[in-house]
Formats: sequence, C-alpha cells, structure tokens
Amino acid sequence: MAAAGILPAMDPLFLRACRGEATERAPVWIMRQAGRYLPQYRAVRARADFLTLCKTPELAAEVTVQPVDVLGVDAAILFADILLPLEAMGAELVFSPGDGPVFPQPVRSREAVERLREPDVEEPLGYVFDALRLARRTLDGRVPVIGFGGTPWTLAAYLVEGGASKQFPHLLGWSWADPEGLGRLLQRLARTSLAYLRAQVEAGAQAIQLFDTWGGLLDLARWRQIALPPVLTILDGLRGRVPLVYYLHGGAHLLPALAELPVEVLSVDWRQPLSEVRRRVGPGKALQGNLDPAALLAPPAEIERRVAELLAEGRGGPHIVNLGHGILPATPVEHARAFVAAAQRLSVAGAAAGETAGVTSPERAATARA
Ligand code: CP3
Repeated sequence: MAAAGILPAMDPLFLRACRGEATERAPVWIMRQAGRYLPQYRAVRARADFLTLCKTPELAAEVTVQPVDVLGVDAAILFADILLPLEAMGAELVFSPGDGPVFPQPVRSREAVERLREPDVEEPLGYVFDALRLARRTLDGRVPVIGFGGTPWTLAAYLVEGGASKQFPHLLGWSWADPEGLGRLLQRLARTSLAYLRAQVEAGAQAIQLFDTWGGLLDLARWRQIALPPVLTILDGLRGRVPLVYYLHGGAHLLPALAELPVEVLSVDWRQPLSEVRRRVGPGKALQGNLDPAALLAPPAEIERRVAELLAEGRGGPHIVNLGHGILPATPVEHARAFVAAAQRLSVAGAAAGETAGVTSPERAATARA
C-alpha cells in the first residue's frame, strides 16, 4: 500500500486487477457513469443532443472525465455508444427523446445485409478516436480509459428490430427461419467491430469491454451456435493487446460458455451472487460487478452494507467492483459517491474480511476527489 502513490500512474490498479493480480484494494467504476444522473452531464447535454455530444470530441472527452472528478472512480469509460459503428456502416440512426435509439430502416433480409458498408473506420468514426486521445491527455495517467463496443448479436438486436424491443420478434424469427442469413449479418458486424475496437486501442484505449445486453435471449446451445462465432472473430482479433472484459446481461444460463471465452474479465448482472459465478467460471478470470443498479436508490448506509456483502461475495478471486447494469438516471449523486467510497475503503486488503459491514469513517469517503 505504501507504493500506491507511485504505482497507479505506471500500472493502474484497474488494469492490474483485470490481469488477475492481487491488488491493494478492489478497483471500482460504474457502467454508464457518464450519464444523466450527473448534473454536470446534464449541463453539457443541455447544449447538445446525444449524437452531437458523441460526435464532438471536446464534449465527449469532457463528460468521459466527469465521473473521475466527481466520484473518484478508478477507470474512465469512453463516452460514445455501441450503436455508432452501425451508422458508419450506412444504417441511419436516430436518438429520439423518450424512445431511445431508432433505426428507421431496419435490416431484415440478406439483401439489406449486402447493402451495409464495411467502412474504413478511421473516417466515419474518427470523432470517437479523437475523443479517446483527448480523454487520455486530459486524464494524464490518473486512471485508465476503457474503450468498448457491442457484441454482434446485441448490435443486431437493435438494427434488426429497428430500436429497443420487448420480444425481439424480427431478430428471433430470423434466427429460426434463416440462421445462415442472420449469420452473415453477424459476421459483417464482427468485422467492422473488430476494426473499430482495434482503432480504439491504437487511439489509447487501455482495456476493451464488449457489451452483450441481449445474449441471454438465446439458450446455451443456440448462443454457442449463433452468437459465439462472431464474438470469437472479435476476441481473437483483439487478444494480446489490452485486457478484454465481457459484459453479459441476463445470461446466468450461459456461464458455462462464458467460462471458456478468451477474455480476462467477466462482468455479470446481479441475478446471481458472485460466489456462484466464481464457482461456475473457475479461478482463471477476474469478475466485475454486480450490485443491482436499483440498490443505489437505497440510503447510503444500506449501500455500504451491500458493498460489504458484495466484496465478501467476490473474495474468491480478483474482483472489480461495479453495478450489474448501467446506473439509473434517478440515482442521487451522493449515493453513487457512497458506493465508490465504500468499495474503495472496505476492500483494502485485510479490511474486507467479512466483518466490516458496519464500519464507517466518513472522512475517508470523499478522498478521491481533488
Ligand atoms: O458507460 C458510459 O458512461 C459510457 C457511455 C455508454 C453509453 N451507452 C452512453 C449513453 C455506453 C458504454 C453505452 C452502452 C450501450 N448503449 C449499451 C450496452 C449497455 C446497456 O446499457 O445495456 C446499449 C444497449 C446501448 C444503446 C443505447 N444507447 C440505448 C438502448 C439507449 C437509450 C436508453 C437510455 O439509457 O437512454 C442509449 C442512449 C445513451 N447511451 C445515453 C447515454 C449516456 C442516454 C442518452 C442521453 O443523454 O439522452
């Protein structure tokens, strides 16, 4: 711990934990940490719609850094969206207030797949790489920057349905009616995603997280058959560069397949305790997660108790503290801060020995700002 002032700049805590090294405490960050729950984000958003914000590197870099300043998290995540590369492939993308993302011309046939471009990502997505470089420069080594993308199956869920969906009739229908045709779409998405994520690494991303929000729609056998091959195209193409994190939402039944994925970190939702995930996955990967985002609506004292429990659950191996899905816009900033501070304080080696749930020292809680 004495070296904590020197080491992080050279070899950040978050990256060491990704690689499975024993660390002086658990790193913590929050999915969607740059977002609407933050007044500072809403102030920037008042001047620009969501896509403009993504496409203006100065603004995207500014909101990328906000949660590092406000919450003291141990990693920043690039401000962008998983759907941006689809626009670069020629699919019109609209974010309409209230409706979330909309693709006015959904891709639902082999012909429509053929019409999608496989672009040279540097040109249409250059704003993402510029934002990354700017965020790295602004952070100046304080914490690492995570780049990200969606898995082909999750990207297809939006592109094929034309936006958010409850039952995914078009995607699932296609997967049964013409799995090979859908497979062509997924491989095309995989190739562009790989180029996009490689370019993020070249622009300075120090880890890459893949978001698989909808993989859990498939049973284990069909996930292996349909969703996994394009994921492997991406992971095989990225391996050895930076730590890879795989996030899965709603897919506890897929853990046997996830255990075999060539990634350093598995990030899971809250529906299964981490000890159970660890038992299924084995000792070979770091685990990230997995507090229920709604738990941050509880009073700070309860949040602390839950963090202590979460740390106890994660004790079987390297653990990166996070939520199980994105932070809710209704979350009070003070609660997000309590979550981060509790994770940082209670996970200090030895202190997380399980009996710490009631121990609180508020003067340590605000350390990471400044
Ligand atoms: O985590 C971060 O702070 C980095 C930025 C980030 C965003 N989206 C910004 C965003 C990341 C990593 C994402 C990932 C993402 N985007 C996923 C995977 C994770 C998940 O949540 O399941 C998905 C499925 C998307 C697609 C997407 N973008 C949807 C469905 C929506 C609408 C729902 C919503 O939360 O509003 C978005 C919009 C979006 N992406 C916002 C932000 C901050 C809100 C836009 C706003 O400011 O109005």
